[in-house]
Amino acid sequence: MSTNATTRRVTHCRVCEATDWQEVVSLGDTPLAGGFLDPADRYDDEPFFPLGLISCRSCRLLSLTHVVDPEVLFRVYAYTTSESQTMRTHMTRVVELSRDRFALAPQSLIVEIGSNVGDQLIAYQRAGMRVLGVDPARNIAEIANAAGVETLTEFFDVGVARRIRAQYGPAKQILGRHVFAHVDDIAEVLAGAGELLDPDGVFTIEVPYALEMLRRNEFDTIYHEHLSYFFISTLVALFARHGLRLVDVERVAVHGGSVLVSAARADSAWTPRPIVAELCALEESTDINGDEVYRKFAGTVAGTVRELPELLRTLVGSGKRIAGYGAPAKGNTLLNVCGIGADLIEYCCDTTPFKQGKVQPGTHIPIRGPEYAKANPPDYFLLLAWNYADEIIQQESDFLANGGRFIVPVPRPAIVPGASDAGRIAGVA
Ligand code: TYD
Ligand code: ZN
Repeated sequence: MSTNATTRRVTHCRVCEATDWQEVVSLGDTPLAGGFLDPADRYDDEPFFPLGLISCRSCRLLSLTHVVDPEVLFRVYAYTTSESQTMRTHMTRVVELSRDRFALAPQSLIVEIGSNVGDQLIAYQRAGMRVLGVDPARNIAEIANAAGVETLTEFFDVGVARRIRAQYGPAKQILGRHVFAHVDDIAEVLAGAGELLDPDGVFTIEVPYALEMLRRNEFDTIYHEHLSYFFISTLVALFARHGLRLVDVERVAVHGGSVLVSAARADSAWTPRPIVAELCALEESTDINGDEVYRKFAGTVAGTVRELPELLRTLVGSGKRIAGYGAPAKGNTLLNVCGIGADLIEYCCDTTPFKQGKVQPGTHIPIRGPEYAKANPPDYFLLLAWNYADEIIQQESDFLANGGRFIVPVPRPAIVPGASDAGRIAGVA
């Protein structure tokens, strides 16, 4: 069933306000990628929403065609930051990079937007800094507060920014990791950042890098929470419109290839590091302003949507058992768009207690814990959490030693021959 009550069709670009869009790819109607269901629920009124990608011909923002009401998406939120080693290491690095490049000192105030359960801010606390989280999800902010990370249960806007400044003072760094792409009213968030930022503070966001999504065919990272997919040149223009200057980019491997981007006040002393111009030149040479790169992406997506279920059907037809590894949000785009259901995937195995015992949105594949997978190993794991390929394949040496194999869905569906090839095939650094 489709529903329009809580969606809005995008008309104006949320970066540059232009209205001239190029269609990139339509993925049909899908359920919310984080809409895990209770097995006791009735599934017949499960909401599906249109999922499509368009490109602004003016600033090359990649945007979803439709925006789902944030109250539906983010007030009760299933996503908790993964307790993986990869992510812990990354969070420590974010603190070190920020401290070294932007002269953060002990007692500097760090405000994180979309701070989730507080893991990133705990890493800042360890470095002696003062921290404050802002996250609209009540269930998640509660966990953060209990862990000693003071967290306001709010959507960040100008009003919240003013209140924080009055109570805690200006922020040396405002951080938004994998949250900026979730924001429809970007201008409001940037105005809020303008209110709260210290004169020599930085606004740092981490977003999946659109160039990597196109290059590695990561179309499963398209889902309703992710309204925007950014190039650096788009962000340069965005920040400039709001009195900020993009001064630093660090390419990081998390979530399939992301960028940690920092902007300072245009009238501050911070100047852009050379990498900013280098990446803008790379984007130019990839011809992101032409249409062809988007047509090619759509063609590759269509190829995967055809080939992956074929591969799984062939395996199941020859008596093999397949389970999903992980129950990440992106897996639900993949499964729903490819039409891969419980007839092909017996269960998905995920370490997140909240997800275990539930069923996947749309496909209703049951989610189990790792113990269940140990007791009922499949012949193949479809690696839905491919962004953790290296870590997972290391963990699953027994599964591999016993003849089990992984299937990676992107950049092209492939059976991973052995442990050492997995990261290379999944394209994960
Ligand atoms: P995540 O990377 O957060 O992706 P998304 O943004 O698409 O939701 O999700 C990773 C999921 O994989 C998360 O539910 C935890 C799970 N997971 C495991 O089950 N085992 C593991 O070893 C790792 C690293 C992750
Ligand atoms: Zn635009």
